[in-house]
Amino acid sequence: MKFNVKVWRQAGPNAKGEFKTYSVDGILPEMSLLEMLDALNETLAKRGEDPIAFDSDCREGICGTCGLVVNGMAHGPRLKCTTCELRMRHFEDGATITIEPFRAKPFPIIKDLVVDRSAFDRIMAAGGYISVNTGSAPDANSVLVPKDVAEKAMDSAACIGCGACVAACPNASASLFVSAKITQFALLPQGQPERERRVLRMVDQMDREGFGNCSNHAECEAACPKGISIENIARMRREYMRAQLVYEERAEVAGAGG
Ligand code: SF4
Ligand code: FES
Repeated sequence: MKFNVKVWRQAGPNAKGEFKTYSVDGILPEMSLLEMLDALNETLAKRGEDPIAFDSDCREGICGTCGLVVNGMAHGPRLKCTTCELRMRHFEDGATITIEPFRAKPFPIIKDLVVDRSAFDRIMAAGGYISVNTGSAPDANSVLVPKDVAEKAMDSAACIGCGACVAACPNASASLFVSAKITQFALLPQGQPERERRVLRMVDQMDREGFGNCSNHAECEAACPKGISIENIARMRREYMRAQLVYEERAEVAGAGG
């Protein structure tokens, strides 16, 4: 297969970026979009040109490292599919494919298609954990969790932190990501000790990072490769309101973690 690939090139964070068009040939239908970029990079390297910088790690949809806007859609046109799992057979032979980085102020471009998503790490560090000493594995059924609740928590825990929800949102809101991370703990007994502190701190950190507010566009849910539901955002709002009512040390939390 043969493609015209229109790629965003930007030498560094402060450099002026622009689209450059390359022609690639000999692409197999079963190759992923990232493998197509690998092939293009080999050609560029042979020509002595700077290869296109992009992120990837697992290349099997589990790490959340990859993430590009392909033909205007975060992770490309296939539903519930990461960029690394997007196969070239889903594009027409001879087509022009436009590839650009996730665009959002809190995700500054480092180079070409690579963006800095450390804002997500700082949100997680603000409260996305449980602080119990886990010790050795408890006996089965010693901590009772109803199956439907465990499944809901598992659905939320499927978030891979890729940031497509931010890139797809007209407000650059991180609400789907943050709500999934809050929900995965809020539903389970192990998440209860820090339940209020967690949601207050994570939401405060999300705001400090400059992400926009959710105004229910639901573009995040459509772009999410893991099918995370916006039901999580509703739960985050409930959790936040509840925590404000029951967590007496609110003022202290607002002053901490800056
Ligand atoms: S909610 Fe979905 S789109 Fe957002 S970071 Fe998690 S997996 Fe990616
Ligand atoms: S490279 Fe890990 S999810 Fe795509």
